[in-house]
Amino acid sequence: MKFFVDTADVAAIRELNALGLVDGVTTNPSLIKKSGRDFKEVVKEICSEVEGPVSAEVVSTDYDGMIAEGNKLAEIAPNIAIKVPLTWDGLKACRTFTGEGKKVNVTLCFSANQALLAAKAGATFISPFIGRLDDLNLDGMQLIQDIRQIYDNYAFETEILAASIRSANHVSESALAGADVVTCPPAVLQSLVKHPLTDKGLADFVKDWEATGQKI
Ligand code: E4P
Repeated sequence: MKFFVDTADVAAIRELNALGLVDGVTTNPSLIKKSGRDFKEVVKEICSEVEGPVSAEVVSTDYDGMIAEGNKLAEIAPNIAIKVPLTWDGLKACRTFTGEGKKVNVTLCFSANQALLAAKAGATFISPFIGRLDDLNLDGMQLIQDIRQIYDNYAFETEILAASIRSANHVSESALAGADVVTCPPAVLQSLVKHPLTDKGLADFVKDWEATGQKI
Protein backbone atom coordinates (compact mmCIF):
# COMPACT_ATOMS: atom_id res chain seq x y z
CA MET A 1 0.00 0.00 0.00
CA LYS A 2 1.22 3.48 -0.85
CA PHE A 3 1.22 6.31 1.69
CA PHE A 4 0.39 9.78 0.44
CA VAL A 5 0.46 12.75 2.80
CA ASP A 6 -2.62 14.96 2.82
CA THR A 7 -1.11 18.37 3.47
CA ALA A 8 0.46 21.50 1.97
CA ASP A 9 2.86 21.79 4.91
CA VAL A 10 6.28 21.38 3.29
CA ALA A 11 8.17 20.95 6.58
CA ALA A 12 5.88 18.07 7.58
CA ILE A 13 6.30 16.44 4.16
CA ARG A 14 10.09 16.77 4.42
CA GLU A 15 10.17 15.11 7.85
CA LEU A 16 8.05 12.15 6.75
CA ASN A 17 9.94 11.86 3.47
CA ALA A 18 13.19 11.46 5.39
CA LEU A 19 11.73 8.18 6.73
CA GLY A 20 10.79 7.04 3.23
CA LEU A 21 7.11 7.28 4.12
CA VAL A 22 5.95 9.60 1.35
CA ASP A 23 4.90 7.92 -1.89
CA GLY A 24 2.97 11.02 -2.93
CA VAL A 25 1.09 14.08 -1.68
CA THR A 26 -2.49 15.29 -1.93
CA THR A 27 -3.53 18.91 -1.55
CA ASN A 28 -6.88 20.63 -1.86
CA PRO A 29 -7.99 24.29 -1.76
CA SER A 30 -8.71 24.09 1.98
CA LEU A 31 -5.20 22.76 2.71
CA ILE A 32 -3.70 25.54 0.55
CA LYS A 33 -5.72 28.09 2.54
CA LYS A 34 -4.45 26.53 5.78
CA SER A 35 -0.83 26.78 4.55
CA GLY A 36 -1.26 30.52 3.95
CA ARG A 37 1.01 30.19 0.91
CA ASP A 38 0.79 30.87 -2.81
CA PHE A 39 -0.79 27.81 -4.46
CA LYS A 40 1.57 27.28 -7.40
CA GLU A 41 4.63 28.17 -5.36
CA VAL A 42 3.91 25.66 -2.59
CA VAL A 43 2.94 22.92 -5.05
CA LYS A 44 6.18 23.46 -6.96
CA GLU A 45 8.15 23.15 -3.73
CA ILE A 46 6.32 19.94 -2.80
CA CYS A 47 6.99 18.50 -6.28
CA SER A 48 10.69 19.11 -5.83
CA GLU A 49 10.68 17.30 -2.46
CA VAL A 50 8.69 14.26 -3.49
CA GLU A 51 9.21 11.91 -6.42
CA GLY A 52 5.67 10.47 -6.47
CA PRO A 53 2.43 12.09 -7.65
CA VAL A 54 1.43 15.42 -6.12
CA SER A 55 -2.27 16.20 -6.48
CA ALA A 56 -3.14 19.82 -7.22
CA GLU A 57 -6.82 20.66 -7.55
CA VAL A 58 -8.58 22.78 -10.15
CA VAL A 59 -11.08 25.28 -8.80
CA SER A 60 -13.19 25.94 -11.90
CA THR A 61 -16.41 23.97 -12.05
CA ASP A 62 -16.86 24.03 -15.84
CA TYR A 63 -15.00 21.88 -18.38
CA ASP A 64 -13.17 24.71 -20.17
CA GLY A 65 -12.04 26.27 -16.92
CA MET A 66 -10.82 22.92 -15.57
CA ILE A 67 -8.87 22.26 -18.76
CA ALA A 68 -7.22 25.68 -18.66
CA GLU A 69 -6.32 25.36 -14.97
CA GLY A 70 -5.25 21.72 -15.22
CA ASN A 71 -2.88 22.51 -18.09
CA LYS A 72 -1.28 25.29 -16.03
CA LEU A 73 -0.92 22.96 -13.03
CA ALA A 74 0.59 20.19 -15.18
CA GLU A 75 3.30 22.63 -16.29
CA ILE A 76 4.54 22.98 -12.70
CA ALA A 77 6.25 19.57 -12.66
CA PRO A 78 6.04 16.15 -14.33
CA ASN A 79 4.77 14.52 -11.12
CA ILE A 80 1.61 16.64 -10.89
CA ALA A 81 -1.68 14.74 -10.71
CA ILE A 82 -4.50 17.08 -11.73
CA LYS A 83 -7.32 16.82 -9.21
CA VAL A 84 -10.82 17.27 -10.61
CA PRO A 85 -14.17 16.99 -8.83
CA LEU A 86 -16.52 14.08 -9.44
CA THR A 87 -18.98 16.01 -11.59
CA TRP A 88 -19.97 15.55 -15.21
CA ASP A 89 -17.57 18.29 -16.31
CA GLY A 90 -14.89 16.86 -14.02
CA LEU A 91 -15.23 13.46 -15.69
CA LYS A 92 -15.00 15.05 -19.14
CA ALA A 93 -11.86 16.90 -18.08
CA CYS A 94 -10.48 13.64 -16.64
CA ARG A 95 -10.99 11.92 -19.98
CA THR A 96 -9.23 14.73 -21.84
CA PHE A 97 -6.28 14.87 -19.45
CA THR A 98 -5.71 11.12 -19.26
CA GLY A 99 -6.01 10.93 -23.07
CA GLU A 100 -3.04 13.30 -23.15
CA GLY A 101 -1.08 11.09 -20.76
CA LYS A 102 -1.57 13.31 -17.71
CA LYS A 103 -2.25 11.86 -14.27
CA VAL A 104 -5.72 12.62 -12.84
CA ASN A 105 -7.09 12.27 -9.32
CA VAL A 106 -10.90 12.34 -9.31
CA THR A 107 -11.91 13.68 -5.92
CA LEU A 108 -15.02 14.02 -3.76
CA CYS A 109 -16.22 10.47 -4.43
CA PHE A 110 -19.02 9.31 -2.16
CA SER A 111 -20.58 6.38 -4.04
CA ALA A 112 -19.63 3.22 -5.90
CA ASN A 113 -21.39 4.45 -9.03
CA GLN A 114 -19.33 7.64 -9.01
CA ALA A 115 -16.18 5.50 -8.73
CA LEU A 116 -17.35 3.37 -11.65
CA LEU A 117 -17.78 6.49 -13.80
CA ALA A 118 -14.33 7.77 -12.83
CA ALA A 119 -12.73 4.47 -13.84
CA LYS A 120 -14.59 4.54 -17.16
CA ALA A 121 -13.25 8.09 -17.65
CA GLY A 122 -9.73 6.70 -17.23
CA ALA A 123 -8.92 8.24 -13.83
CA THR A 124 -5.47 7.47 -12.46
CA PHE A 125 -6.80 7.75 -8.90
CA ILE A 126 -10.28 7.76 -7.39
CA SER A 127 -10.58 9.46 -3.99
CA PRO A 128 -13.43 8.13 -1.83
CA PHE A 129 -13.81 10.33 1.27
CA ILE A 130 -14.09 7.96 4.23
CA GLY A 131 -14.21 10.40 7.13
CA ARG A 132 -16.87 12.65 5.63
CA LEU A 133 -19.16 9.62 5.14
CA ASP A 134 -18.51 8.43 8.70
CA ASP A 135 -19.35 11.97 9.90
CA LEU A 136 -22.87 11.40 8.52
CA ASN A 137 -23.14 8.00 10.20
CA LEU A 138 -22.60 6.29 6.85
CA ASP A 139 -20.02 3.56 6.32
CA GLY A 140 -16.96 4.99 4.57
CA MET A 141 -15.06 1.71 4.73
CA GLN A 142 -17.89 -0.18 3.05
CA LEU A 143 -17.46 2.19 0.11
CA ILE A 144 -13.78 1.24 -0.20
CA GLN A 145 -14.73 -2.45 -0.15
CA ASP A 146 -17.43 -1.94 -2.79
CA ILE A 147 -15.13 -0.02 -5.12
CA ARG A 148 -12.40 -2.66 -4.69
CA GLN A 149 -14.86 -5.38 -5.67
CA ILE A 150 -16.16 -3.47 -8.69
CA TYR A 151 -12.71 -2.51 -9.97
CA ASP A 152 -11.50 -6.10 -9.55
CA ASN A 153 -14.60 -7.49 -11.30
CA TYR A 154 -13.73 -5.55 -14.43
CA ALA A 155 -9.96 -5.19 -14.06
CA PHE A 156 -10.09 -1.39 -13.91
CA GLU A 157 -6.61 0.02 -13.36
CA THR A 158 -7.73 3.18 -11.53
CA GLU A 159 -6.07 3.22 -8.12
CA ILE A 160 -8.27 3.52 -5.04
CA LEU A 161 -6.92 6.39 -2.95
CA ALA A 162 -8.62 6.30 0.46
CA ALA A 163 -9.06 9.94 1.51
CA SER A 164 -10.56 11.96 4.36
CA ILE A 165 -8.64 9.74 6.76
CA ARG A 166 -9.17 10.69 10.37
CA SER A 167 -7.63 7.90 12.43
CA ALA A 168 -5.10 5.08 12.57
CA ASN A 169 -8.00 2.62 12.30
CA HIS A 170 -8.98 4.18 8.98
CA VAL A 171 -5.48 3.37 7.70
CA SER A 172 -5.43 -0.31 8.70
CA GLU A 173 -9.04 -0.82 7.60
CA SER A 174 -8.30 0.78 4.22
CA ALA A 175 -5.34 -1.59 3.81
CA LEU A 176 -7.51 -4.58 4.72
CA ALA A 177 -10.17 -3.43 2.27
CA GLY A 178 -7.58 -3.37 -0.50
CA ALA A 179 -7.16 0.38 -1.09
CA ASP A 180 -4.10 0.99 -3.27
CA VAL A 181 -3.21 4.25 -1.55
CA VAL A 182 -4.13 5.97 1.68
CA THR A 183 -3.66 9.71 2.04
CA CYS A 184 -3.19 10.80 5.64
CA PRO A 185 -2.74 14.06 7.50
CA PRO A 186 0.81 14.03 8.95
CA ALA A 187 -0.51 13.58 12.51
CA VAL A 188 -2.40 10.42 11.55
CA LEU A 189 0.65 9.00 9.79
CA GLN A 190 2.78 9.70 12.85
CA SER A 191 0.15 8.16 15.15
CA LEU A 192 0.56 4.78 13.41
CA VAL A 193 3.72 4.12 15.42
CA LYS A 194 1.98 4.47 18.76
CA HIS A 195 0.99 1.59 21.02
CA PRO A 196 0.81 1.80 24.83
CA LEU A 197 2.38 -1.65 25.20
CA THR A 198 5.37 -0.51 23.14
CA ASP A 199 5.82 2.51 25.44
CA LYS A 200 5.44 0.38 28.58
CA GLY A 201 7.72 -2.38 27.29
CA LEU A 202 10.43 0.12 26.38
CA ALA A 203 10.21 1.87 29.76
CA ASP A 204 10.59 -1.53 31.50
CA PHE A 205 13.59 -2.50 29.37
CA VAL A 206 15.30 0.85 30.00
CA LYS A 207 14.71 0.55 33.76
CA ASP A 208 16.00 -3.06 33.94
CA TRP A 209 19.01 -2.20 31.80
CA GLU A 210 19.92 0.69 34.09
CA ALA A 211 19.68 -1.70 37.04
CA THR A 212 22.37 -3.93 35.48
CA GLY A 213 24.83 -1.01 35.58
CA GLN A 214 26.20 -2.13 32.20
CA LYS A 215 27.00 -0.11 29.08
CA ILE A 216 27.01 -1.24 25.47
C1 E4P B 1 -7.99 14.14 -0.25
O1 E4P B 1 -7.43 14.26 -1.31
C2 E4P B 1 -8.58 15.26 0.48
O2 E4P B 1 -7.69 16.34 0.34
C3 E4P B 1 -8.73 15.03 1.96
O3 E4P B 1 -8.42 13.70 2.29
C4 E4P B 1 -10.01 15.51 2.55
O4 E4P B 1 -10.02 15.23 3.92
P1 E4P B 1 -11.03 15.92 4.94
O5 E4P B 1 -12.38 15.31 4.75
O6 E4P B 1 -10.48 15.61 6.30
O7 E4P B 1 -11.04 17.40 4.64
